[in-house]
Amino acid sequence: MAQPMLHGMEIVEEIEGSGGLGGVARMTEVIAALETRRTELIEQLRSQRLASWEEIGQACGMTRQGASRRWSQQAQATSFGDAAAAYRRGRPPYPSSAVDWLVPSTAKSVLDLGAGTGKLTQLLAAREGLAVTAVEPLPAMREELVATVPSADVRDGSAETIPLGNKAVDAVVVAQAWHWFDAATALPEIARVLTPGGTLGLVWNIRDHRVPWVAELDRVLHRHTRQEIDTAPSIGTPFHEVERLDVRWEHALTRPELLDLVASRSYVITMAAKDRDELMHQVGELLDSHLDLRGRKNLTMPYITRCTRARLS
Ligand SMILES: C[S@@+](CC[C@H](N)C(=O)[O-])C[C@H]1O[C@@H](n2cnc3c(N)ncnc32)[C@H](O)[C@@H]1O
Repeated sequence: MAQPMLHGMEIVEEIEGSGGLGGVARMTEVIAALETRRTELIEQLRSQRLASWEEIGQACGMTRQGASRRWSQQAQATSFGDAAAAYRRGRPPYPSSAVDWLVPSTAKSVLDLGAGTGKLTQLLAAREGLAVTAVEPLPAMREELVATVPSADVRDGSAETIPLGNKAVDAVVVAQAWHWFDAATALPEIARVLTPGGTLGLVWNIRDHRVPWVAELDRVLHRHTRQEIDTAPSIGTPFHEVERLDVRWEHALTRPELLDLVASRSYVITMAAKDRDELMHQVGELLDSHLDLRGRKNLTMPYITRCTRARLS
């Protein structure tokens, strides 16, 4: 005869046994096993497109954003390595006025955290008298980084475990990467490696949707998924004097570079191959048919570069 289904508290009592340290150890083991298995099931559901983040969130007692942040962010954060070359070709640099604003002219040393292929690192390295360290967790990105900015001190590490001593740098900058960090761990870690009064700068390039073809491109991209990023996050203690700056500018790029820009988005890299092919096809169609784009080999992508700067107390 089939066993009747046990409910949560009955299972807990069974694992707990007579309690004490033995009970705690058994519970810890079961929680870890459950967590691993839940992640596997969620990965299966997502890869076979059997459930949306909304439904997974409901099943886990979380919001859609909470579930997708928890399970897709990890996969996406580690996805860039698969498309490091496309990233280097297609992603824009940062305007020099933004870089100048983010790193005080008095700084003698700077850390580029989550440096990727070195889009920002190379602009920092061009500043005379500034010693540049770049930390990046993914080997494929680091490979591109070392080749692009040979003068930088490139290190393996993460925002949560920065491979630098205390008070090592005058400024830390994070380009297009803050949203991947566990801010609660990263913030004190950044404070640890900064000299007193040092600065933290965050920056994101945002496509300017007021231009009709850019709005159309984003509609195509977001048909598949929408990645909400807070580009003006609050920065808590021990930082203060939080300031913001928006810089508008345009990036010249070719049609293949625009396709690389799309292909290097984390959510595109982690898509099923069939969906990715379909998306790239739709972007190609837009380039061929939109009145402002068709027949053009050279394009200009309008950007708003959104910067945040804060000072260590
Ligand atoms: C969108 S890319 C930005 C790269 C580069 N800063 C730029 O501006 O082109 C995000 C980078 O953050 C890195 N990253 C993700 N999670 C990280 C973490 N916890 N600590 C440090 N870097 C991380 C990724 O490997 C990736 O290279």
